[in-house]
Amino acid sequence: MRVIAIDGPAGSGKSTVGRGLADRLGLTYLDTGAMYRAVAFAAIRGGVDPTDSEPIGEVARSIELSLDGGRVVVDGSDATIEIRGPEVSRAVSLVAANPEVREELRTRQRLWAAEHGGGVIEGRDIGSVVFPDAVLKVYLTADPAERARRRADEMSELEYERVAADLARRDALDQGRDDSPLVEPDGAVTVDTTAMTVDEVLELLVRLVEERS
Ligand code: DC
Repeated sequence: MRVIAIDGPAGSGKSTVGRGLADRLGLTYLDTGAMYRAVAFAAIRGGVDPTDSEPIGEVARSIELSLDGGRVVVDGSDATIEIRGPEVSRAVSLVAANPEVREELRTRQRLWAAEHGGGVIEGRDIGSVVFPDAVLKVYLTADPAERARRRADEMSELEYERVAADLARRDALDQGRDDSPLVEPDGAVTVDTTAMTVDEVLELLVRLVEERS
């Protein structure tokens, strides 16, 4: 099983790079942030408070979740758009700090990799906790101002200042939580994408994978 783990803060380029790398290597791609967002979405829809530890754990264990073909389907409803909305984005760091949720999603991520013969898997704890034996562990990063600019471009209705504040808040929550905080995993290659094009990052990573194969 060949797993390539990509971790890093929001806006560091994980999704674009992860998808591109999976394409180039002929592997499947898994966005684990979408799984945490799907749990937050299901909780909001079910009227469960995101800070309510046990009921949120139950939501994570009971949802039917499919991430095939770039669509995120939660209990039969397509939530691809809603999981990126402001309501889910506000709640998701709280949901992701819940150890019961993390335990359940870790299990699902390992199952997914076993079923797909590995893949390019991105998140916050992939190289550090979920797949410490990954063939290649990448920690992608970029200047906070550049990360906010990228996100603001993606969501034109949200002004830059608000996006920057939201990113800073989420970075602090993701890095400060007790269970699987965002860290540079042991043995990871750190790539600062601030001044790099997507193609430059992809070329570097393809070369690193080839060296290790
Ligand atoms: O990558 P993203 O912004 O879609 O992630 C959404 C949230 O989920 C973010 O607050 C970090 C969290 N997350 C996590 O804790 N562990 C992961 N493996 C992936 C995402």
